Amino acid sequence: MADYDFDLLVIGAGPGGYVAAIRAAQLGLKTACVESRETLGGTCLNVGCIPSKALLHASELYEEVAGGHLAKFGMSFGKPSVDVPAMIAEKQKAVDELTGGIAFLFKKNKVEWIKGFASFTSADTVEVAGKSYRAKNIIIATGSSVTPLPGVEVDNDKGVVIDSTGALTLSKVPGKMVVIGGGVIGLELGSVWRRLGAEVTVVEYLDQILPGMDADIRKEAARIFKKQGFTIKTGTKVTGVATKGKGAVVTVEPAAGGAAETLEADVVLVAIGRKPNTDGLGLDKAGLSVNARGQIETDHDFRTAVPGIWAIGDVIPGPMLAHKAEDEGVACAENIAGHTGIVNHDVIPSVVYTFPEIAGVGLTEEAAAARGAIKVGKFPMMANSRAKTNRQTDGLVKVISDAETDRVLGVWIIATVAGSMIAEACVAMEFGATSEDIAYTCHAHPTHAEALKEAAMAVRGKAIHV
Ligand code: FAD
Ligand code: NAI
Repeated sequence: MADYDFDLLVIGAGPGGYVAAIRAAQLGLKTACVESRETLGGTCLNVGCIPSKALLHASELYEEVAGGHLAKFGMSFGKPSVDVPAMIAEKQKAVDELTGGIAFLFKKNKVEWIKGFASFTSADTVEVAGKSYRAKNIIIATGSSVTPLPGVEVDNDKGVVIDSTGALTLSKVPGKMVVIGGGVIGLELGSVWRRLGAEVTVVEYLDQILPGMDADIRKEAARIFKKQGFTIKTGTKVTGVATKGKGAVVTVEPAAGGAAETLEADVVLVAIGRKPNTDGLGLDKAGLSVNARGQIETDHDFRTAVPGIWAIGDVIPGPMLAHKAEDEGVACAENIAGHTGIVNHDVIPSVVYTFPEIAGVGLTEEAAAARGAIKVGKFPMMANSRAKTNRQTDGLVKVISDAETDRVLGVWIIATVAGSMIAEACVAMEFGATSEDIAYTCHAHPTHAEALKEAAMAVRGKAIHV
């Protein structure tokens, strides 16, 4: 290995970096992974996917009881109460078990964990805690962090103006919460605190929540969230946030301009997006630069402009999702090891883990129609026997296919288990399925998945149960 310390050095141990490191080690490369956090797993395991889903699960159980939803099944309880610190502690156990699991996998696969913040000193050398490491290949997997709202200072310790990390550790349920941004974080973490009793107002700049999703789905999701008790102010911009007493006052006005109004809040959650992490990385020393959106550009194999330096995950263009980062990690490691690693970026599912869940893969109806003639089939969850049995009938499935070839171009789902249902659509699209292929595949009864089959049948105008 000449005078290299490693065949591969990965910067960042999130879902992109840790997966790349393990895959590379499995393929026989001498691999190290640098991480500046105390624990492995990145945003996703420490302050993202995992803790948010733990609180979503716990708060959903609470709402089922507290909202009286179980009474119709003949179950009644005394007045429920919630011990927020206990809920937060249980969430932390899940996080600790999973981050500890990555440390175990690193040991098992002989990936060296270098603790500290990495900075390039040249194209093949990084410095961590005063020590230099030279590697034949370097993967930048530094992820992303919260986009700040200009003029608004977040202080997660005080717990009044917070970001997603602060929303995962509040010590009590706020009376009133204002969420700035009607995207994934705002709706997931807004749901957690609404279910536990907060009055939640979501302020969204655009004229609909959930940017990037299919328009029908965005509209139906907003209807369901409002029914659940969210106040949603779309087409509204925040012009200021001032702390007042133990809470804050948020000043908003119509995005198109107009009269301002103020919203009082005990807690303000800023959730307006995330930005790639490249500060302090010394990209200039490596001969690299970022694009206008602060991302590192790569080719289809995850090579950057500098030979030997690769990049994956939230720090490169594309959706900021853990499974996208993971798949890129595997593919990039395989490419470095001389195999052919490929990620099909046309088939990356996205899931919002609210109740019901919202999921999609491929093109929206709007994007598909802009490309050429399409056919669309829809099926309401109201007509799905399992949803009906469970008394949870909100939502629909929508299948979009090419009018000429019938090849499936996109699938959109609102259903209690949409996040699991979308996997079938992903497999179908990966194999180039037509809507007819899905429609003529036998689906078990009674399952939510039958709604996808029926939506596929509806593409050809012949669903059975509507
Ligand atoms: P990250 O996970 O951000 O990891 C990068 C790591 O690199 C970090 O640990 C960081 O400390 C480290 N690092 C950065 N710079 C350096 C350096 N110079 N030296 C050493 N270490 C460095 N995605 C989903 O798919 N599903 C979800 O349910 C989901 N929920 C989310 C909920 C929340 C609240 C948030 C905030 C995000 C969520 N995401 C979800 C997004 C997901 O967390 C990210 O897409 C994913 O973590 C990106 O992985 P990554 O490996 O690119 O980067
Ligand atoms: P987002 O991009 O999903 O949504 C941000 C929203 O804020 C947008 O609707 C945007 O129009 C709005 N906005 C921007 N500036 C605003 C302003 N000044 N005033 C009012 N609204 C404003 O970003 P979010 O929710 O912060 O999440 C970041 C990323 O994290 C997501 O894009 C996603 O990639 C990832 N994530 C994924 C999850 C999942 O897969 N379930 C869960 C949580 C996060």
